[in-house]
Amino acid sequence: MKGLILAGGHGTRLRPITHTSNKHLIPLANKPMLFYSIETLKDAGITDVGIIVGHTPQRIQEIKDAVGDGSKLGIKVTYIEQDAPRGLAHAVKVAKDFLTTNNKDGKFVVHLGDNILKGGIKKYVEKFMDSDIDGLILLKNIQNPSRFGVAEIKDGKLIRLVEKPKIPPSDLAMVGIYMLNRHIFDSIERLKPSSRNEYEITEAVQGIIDSGKNVHHEIVDAEWWKDPGDPVGILEANRLLLDELKPSNKGLVEDGATIVGKVNIDTGTIIKKGASVKGPVVIGKNCVIGDNACLGPYTSIGDNTIIENAEIESSIVIGNSKINCRQRIVDSLIGGNVNISEFLGTPSTAIQLVVGEHSIIKV
Ligand code: DAU
Repeated sequence: MKGLILAGGHGTRLRPITHTSNKHLIPLANKPMLFYSIETLKDAGITDVGIIVGHTPQRIQEIKDAVGDGSKLGIKVTYIEQDAPRGLAHAVKVAKDFLTTNNKDGKFVVHLGDNILKGGIKKYVEKFMDSDIDGLILLKNIQNPSRFGVAEIKDGKLIRLVEKPKIPPSDLAMVGIYMLNRHIFDSIERLKPSSRNEYEITEAVQGIIDSGKNVHHEIVDAEWWKDPGDPVGILEANRLLLDELKPSNKGLVEDGATIVGKVNIDTGTIIKKGASVKGPVVIGKNCVIGDNACLGPYTSIGDNTIIENAEIESSIVIGNSKINCRQRIVDSLIGGNVNISEFLGTPSTAIQLVVGEHSIIKV
């Protein structure tokens, strides 16, 4: 069985981070978002994986640098470019050759690269593989499903799927993981662009239902499902993933440093005397957590970061940054190569900023 991960798109809601890097590489609990979908597919036994990488050379290269040929993650990767983000169904169409070549039973899983389903999809993939159905759609009960695809079920049967309805027909949101076969391609050919000018996978699946094919659904019992499309969602996903953190220490904790709860410290990192870390917290490689630094809970610090004289809680610091500002930073997503320092000029209450386009600052 083959897998397809969609990691194209603009990532508009995550600017300015996505001005310079691909949304799917934003680290959650210090692991790129995209790696969670790769692990989910691998755990379900799917190791022949295509990745839709969009069309911007720099974004494509970044993904290739992170994932390589897939061997270090236990999969074999084929990169597939999409000339523009024309919709999820368009991305599937672009991958048709990959999905249908050397695929005996013609079945595959499409996994949106920004979706994480706790507990994975193994049991659903097994059910799909053991059946002769044409599609299996995963649904999750949520409040306010209006920003998702929403399903209508009648007498236990899936009868209608509608994308981002103002008045949802149920509380069953479509998880961005679809088990499909070759019939989807005919349906995609019949699609017209939606009101947001995209070829919608939701409408393509509706098309195979309408043509009398057998599409089943499962209401997933996962503890949580996240589609971290904006900074709030990113921080929420980071928190949920940190809840499962396994504590470990490959670095150095000096006498006089305080470590409480689940803390994961990577190689080359020093937690200095006078620093305090309250888990769950993950700290990457070659960081210095110095005097008067107070981290956590629910905080991820990426590689090569120096933090002194600052408190950071419920936040992500992507890495290669320096923070020394005598401030308490909360609920923040801090991009790579950032320097946050104390303003020592006058007036003393002032702040000084050098901030790129689409930055969000609350002072
Ligand atoms: O998260 C689940 C939801 O995902 C479903 O409930 C919706 O039915 C489905 O349409 C989708 O909605 P979104 O509006 O959240 O999709 P988004 O545009 O954010 O794209 C999802 C992923 O696919 C994202 O990781 C980027 C990638 N993508 C997107 C487009 C439009 C591509 O690779 N190519 C594309 O053309």
